[in-house]
Amino acid sequence: MARIGSAVRDPNTLSNYDEFVTRHITANLEVDFEGRRLSGDVVLRMRSVTGEGDRVVLDTSYVDIKGISIGGKKASWDIAPRVEPYGRPLAILLGDAVQKDQEFEVSISLSTTPECSALQWLGPEQTSNGQHPYMFSQCQAIHCRSIFPCQDTPDVKATVDINIRSPLPVVAGGLPTGTRDFQPGKDGKRGTLLYTFEQKLPIPSYLFALASGDLATAAIGPRSSVVTGPEELQGCKWELEEDMEKFMEAAEGIVYPYAWTTYNVLVLPPSFPYGGMENPIFTFATPTIISKDRQNIDVIAHELAHSWSGNLVSTCSWEHFWLNEGWTVYLERRILAAVHGEAHRDFSAIIGWKALEDSVKLYGADHEYTKMVPNLKEVDPDDAFSSIPYEKGFNFLYHLEKLIGKGKWDRFIPHYFTVWKARSLDSFEFKQTLLDFFAADADASQKLHDLDWDTWLFGPGLPPKPDFDETLAKECYALADKWERRTTGADASFAPQPSDIAHFSANQTVVFLERLQTSTTPFRPADMELMGATYRLSESANVELVSRFYSLALKSRAEAFYAPAAELLGTVGRMKFVRPLYRALNGCDRQLAIATFERNRGFYHPICRGMVEKDLFGGQG
Ligand code: BES
Ligand code: ZN
Repeated sequence: MARIGSAVRDPNTLSNYDEFVTRHITANLEVDFEGRRLSGDVVLRMRSVTGEGDRVVLDTSYVDIKGISIGGKKASWDIAPRVEPYGRPLAILLGDAVQKDQEFEVSISLSTTPECSALQWLGPEQTSNGQHPYMFSQCQAIHCRSIFPCQDTPDVKATVDINIRSPLPVVAGGLPTGTRDFQPGKDGKRGTLLYTFEQKLPIPSYLFALASGDLATAAIGPRSSVVTGPEELQGCKWELEEDMEKFMEAAEGIVYPYAWTTYNVLVLPPSFPYGGMENPIFTFATPTIISKDRQNIDVIAHELAHSWSGNLVSTCSWEHFWLNEGWTVYLERRILAAVHGEAHRDFSAIIGWKALEDSVKLYGADHEYTKMVPNLKEVDPDDAFSSIPYEKGFNFLYHLEKLIGKGKWDRFIPHYFTVWKARSLDSFEFKQTLLDFFAADADASQKLHDLDWDTWLFGPGLPPKPDFDETLAKECYALADKWERRTTGADASFAPQPSDIAHFSANQTVVFLERLQTSTTPFRPADMELMGATYRLSESANVELVSRFYSLALKSRAEAFYAPAAELLGTVGRMKFVRPLYRALNGCDRQLAIATFERNRGFYHPICRGMVEKDLFGGQG
């Protein structure tokens, strides 16, 4: 639902970025924990693309606009009624004509509102030490517009200065440039400091990020730190320090040197709705990656990989999201292979394939969202979010690698990331870049010419399944087989022992549990209890295991696990775990599912709350 007659290629923005583009953003914002809002001013330096057009149209959603000036002069502006799900387009009249390529500054004074979908505000009771409030942002996909008016499209990139005044430490999506200018607090309130950050590589709006709370910092590598609550600091450091620099060097070996100076991780409170978010300089991550076994930091390999795919080279719209996520999963698995061994790459791909199958099954094999490039006109990109762009995208790149041959393909990778560095592209430009690179290579050209691009990019359902190396998966399948035969009575002699899985990696246990999930016969509740007790699955600090075990137990109607599953839903807010668990709970005890949701509603992030609401009570998406 773009403007009438819009010439832009992103259907999820109402801005006229074909006429004007943002070059630089300066955000001067104060964190008001009591009022649960950000307020201040945001200055957009804009450039005229065409020399035509008398107004700049920006995206906004539930922002309270106090005043606007252009080049220091008060401007007239008009905000139109809401257009769901994109918000209210804000038209700012230019007054004086501007020439092509002329730049001008639009200064907007504003405050966020309680409806702001990008921010979560936590009371002290929602943080681990219960002492201080906390706030964080999550702008991807189209939530930046609920913090400040902007061209909220990945097709526009700007450099950014972020200046945040807060009573508590601040982290933001840029390099810290200092902390200064203490202002004493009034009426018993804490004093505030100004925390400043700069982002000199241009970024799209969805990478704008900030967080503030009781934060402490520790080194996890020569160019990396972890930031989290003081009580969690040592645990987070231990989890990440072993692999952090290895991941960076592996990624640099595949693409080219890291461009953003430092790479840091902010480990958030448990309501963070995603596994990780690749905010520049500071990846935001769920605390569920801190599983005390160093087994879930593939999430960090993934977010780090976005430093190339997504953050340097970006999709131009959420329809071509696979260019961000498919490429990132591809690089993540290459990093894992480089650091932990080649077998881990296909093992991770096997887990991914299962996620892809599940998504296709959930939507139906003809569904629009099962296409690698779906049509998202009039759609909220959050509603179309699934494993499909990740795993179909990965499989496409994996297919290209095998088709062309790894040696040649590996030379294309740095080329692609050089050509599109600091820019945004669509799938057609990706294709053209690939064809151009191999134009002089008759063999590769022929293969690329014969490739069924149309089906890969625009066909629904599953792609062809590659022959993954099953070395690490075989043992998991064999154990799953034994359980299956036990529960069906085909072979009741199997007596499970803790040693069955003692040597498994956490991901091998995941594959074991997922294999059981695909079983057609339900498990006997008594068998689920036996499995839980023998492998101590409910006691694991690794939510990847616990949540999958509970999903399976609920599917098997093992009532002993209903209450523990409901309890888990009050401690994690990561949608990857929360949504399937609610679906499973809803399937066996709808009343408990609803009561659990109502009880935890305030704990969940607004995005997660909205999604679960749709899952439980229907509605679009
Ligand atoms: N960029 C995504 C998270 C995201 C996607 C947020 C779309 C909002 C809208 C991030 O890089 C991601 O993919 N996270 C995964 C990690 C995983 C694939 C290792 C997650 O959150 O589970
Ligand atoms: Zn990602």
